[in-house]
Amino acid sequence: MNELQNHVAVITGAAGGIGASIARLFAAEGATVALLDRTRDSLAILTAELNAAGHTASAHPVDITASASVETAMTDVVRAHGRISILVNCVGFLRTGKIDQMSEADFDAVMAVNVKGVWLATKYALPHLRATGLAGGAAVVNLSSVSAYIGTDTGWAYTVSKGAVSSFTHAVSQELAPAGIRVNAVAPGYVDAGFTHQSMARNPDPAAMVARANSLHVLGRMGQPQEIAQAVLYLASARASFVTGTILFVDGGFMIKR
Ligand SMILES: NC(=O)c1ccc[n+]([C@@H]2O[C@H](COP(=O)([O-])OP(=O)(O)OC[C@H]3O[C@@H](n4cnc5c(N)ncnc54)[C@H](O)[C@@H]3O)[C@@H](O)[C@H]2O)c1
Repeated sequence: MNELQNHVAVITGAAGGIGASIARLFAAEGATVALLDRTRDSLAILTAELNAAGHTASAHPVDITASASVETAMTDVVRAHGRISILVNCVGFLRTGKIDQMSEADFDAVMAVNVKGVWLATKYALPHLRATGLAGGAAVVNLSSVSAYIGTDTGWAYTVSKGAVSSFTHAVSQELAPAGIRVNAVAPGYVDAGFTHQSMARNPDPAAMVARANSLHVLGRMGQPQEIAQAVLYLASARASFVTGTILFVDGGFMIKR
């Protein structure tokens, strides 16, 4: 407990399946959590839940693809809490479609959220991360995916975007190391939450989809969002003080099966 005491953590995509788990775990570990998402109602419910439990949380509705919106959100976080010492880029968006069938609008939306959104959040958090980085350490944790490392038949645009998140992690970890800011990523396997859960539930045969997804992992099941949150906590905390530029696979053996 209290691994993140005195930290102020910004979590993007905080109203989502994995983001909400990260928010709950970080708050339980003593962090002040600033929750960014475009989904106002879910943000408000989560913020109220955390504050009622005695934690410190604030909600910041944002369009992560819009520069002015992201800059305003980061300014509001610092106005509310004084600083930012951790950024978790958990925002994400999935659209599938074969290469000759996907619309340009869908491609642009995937790239805008998953790639530009990660850059913009990092860009506007950076002045504040720099201030805490040199004073004792700051961390950025990005959400990549096993999808970045395998080909999928219809999820190619998402795969490309998550490859960019991993590359961003590698490149930016070098740029920000002198500022005392570590930059890492977690690459989950299938997680029984968020858009994976929703797309399986929409399928005509959800049970078959779940069984197939489970079978892709050596451990014989999908991950739970709490299991991803634990890895994000590790990379954000002082326990990972010598870790930067790393992609940490939390995938139940998904990659080793390939
Ligand atoms: N669920 C999985 O199986 C899985 C596996 C590997 C990686 N991931 C990654 O984990 C992260 C979280 O995924 P999740 O499963 O919790 O999905 P999710 O859809 O539940 O959460 C994503 C959140 O991002 C928010 N968002 C989307 N567009 C936005 C925008 N323009 N501005 C602000 N917020 C926006 C959504 O409102 C949502 O709350 C993503 O980066 C995803 O790629 C998920």
